[in-house]
Amino acid sequence: MNSTGQMKTWTLWKLLIFTFLQVGISGIVFIYIRVSVNLDLGVPILQPPKPLRSSLLVEEKISNLTILLWTWPFGVRSHIEKCSRLLGIPDCHITVKRSWYPKADAVLIHHFDLYGNPQRLPQEPRPLSQRWIWFNLESPTTYSVQSFLDSRFNLTMTYRRDSDIYIPYGWMDVLPQKQNVTIPPKSKLVAWAVSNWKPDSQRVKYYQELKKYLQVDIYGRHHLPLPRDQHLSTLSQYKFYLAFENSIHEDYITEKVWKNAFFSWAVPVVLGPPRKNYERHMPPESFIHIDDFPSAKELANFLHTLDRNTTRYESYFHWRSWLKPNGPTPWALMFCKACRALQENPGQYQTIPDLSKWFKQSR
Ligand SMILES: *[C@@H]1O[C@H](CO)[C@@H](O)[C@H](O)[C@H]1NC(C)=O
Ligand SMILES: *[C@@H]1O[C@H](CO)[C@@H](O)[C@H](O)[C@H]1NC(C)=O
Ligand SMILES: *[C@@H]1O[C@H](CO)[C@@H](O)[C@H](O)[C@H]1NC(C)=O
Ligand SMILES: *[C@@H]1O[C@H](CO)[C@@H](O)[C@H](O)[C@H]1NC(C)=O
Repeated sequence: MNSTGQMKTWTLWKLLIFTFLQVGISGIVFIYIRVSVNLDLGVPILQPPKPLRSSLLVEEKISNLTILLWTWPFGVRSHIEKCSRLLGIPDCHITVKRSWYPKADAVLIHHFDLYGNPQRLPQEPRPLSQRWIWFNLESPTTYSVQSFLDSRFNLTMTYRRDSDIYIPYGWMDVLPQKQNVTIPPKSKLVAWAVSNWKPDSQRVKYYQELKKYLQVDIYGRHHLPLPRDQHLSTLSQYKFYLAFENSIHEDYITEKVWKNAFFSWAVPVVLGPPRKNYERHMPPESFIHIDDFPSAKELANFLHTLDRNTTRYESYFHWRSWLKPNGPTPWALMFCKACRALQENPGQYQTIPDLSKWFKQSR
């Protein structure tokens, strides 16, 4: 064999070895992802081995999937946008027309709109491959989750990080480059906007204790007015905002933190799940947790200390040089996240036996 021939053979070998390595590595990565995703789910799932499919079949399966919105969330019509535009994925056919039920690949069922009534679920027999998605952004305390929901749904779509489709109230975007942080001028100390005032709730009780040591301006029904168009400009005058959740559940970290505090550049003082859970969503030094203090009195002292020490107060804004708070997820994007999840696991079999228990428990 001449040297050109040898070269060719060698190049062919290199190509072969390279291809084998590629396939091998992708295989390992794929298995790793599957294993870690399954471990992370924390939801008991039933998953018999997947049948082998040709990629052609899979491609056909994910093109133009029909998602039936069983109701408009809260009965309010919203925009439906192309998922190719929002997420750069193949489009789904998203519809509210119930006549699509027998042909729909998935039905998106918004928990609140069931009003606790199993009769409001689809009553016709379910087509074999149709998947039902349980869609809920309310906490199990504000809107109860009953056991009639168990063993009916195939996917969950909630604010919980361990949902199949994760819809957080807010999130942090990493900035493309570091930016200088300019804190808006502050003339007031602590604000709280509350519409649902329950005297024996944990948050109102905590406030009653706190106000003995600290002036808190309260906005909302029966309190100071907070017009929608002056929301941010009003709250941004404050150094701190009481982001007290109405009930305490894992990952239930709502617009009270994201919009009322972060968007208005007030440092959130949070009452909700443990600090560790907040730190899964935002930097540790971006908020003050009431659990960091043995009593409301000590929290009040700490806020007064920060009020007097600008350097220390400003340290609660350092993260803003590289992160930007964002949220909430628009409805159209939520629908497209469902579309993407369906496309990513075509023909996946899964059912959630104890949905109600899962949603009520903490990890
Ligand atoms: C997707 O399916 C719907 C319903 O059958 C149809 O109206 C629409 O034209 C289809 N879109 C594409 C791009 O195939
Ligand atoms: C940030 O501040 C530094 C120092 O004042 C300045 O040199 C730099 O240009 C600023 N960067 C931006 C993006 O404004
Ligand atoms: C203000 O806080 C900084 C940082 O924690 C600290 O180094 C400084 O001594 C404080 N200043 C006063 C006057 O307490
Ligand atoms: C979805 O869940 C239902 C109810 O448990 C089950 O009968 C059905 O086989 C599941 N379908 C898929 C595609 O996972």
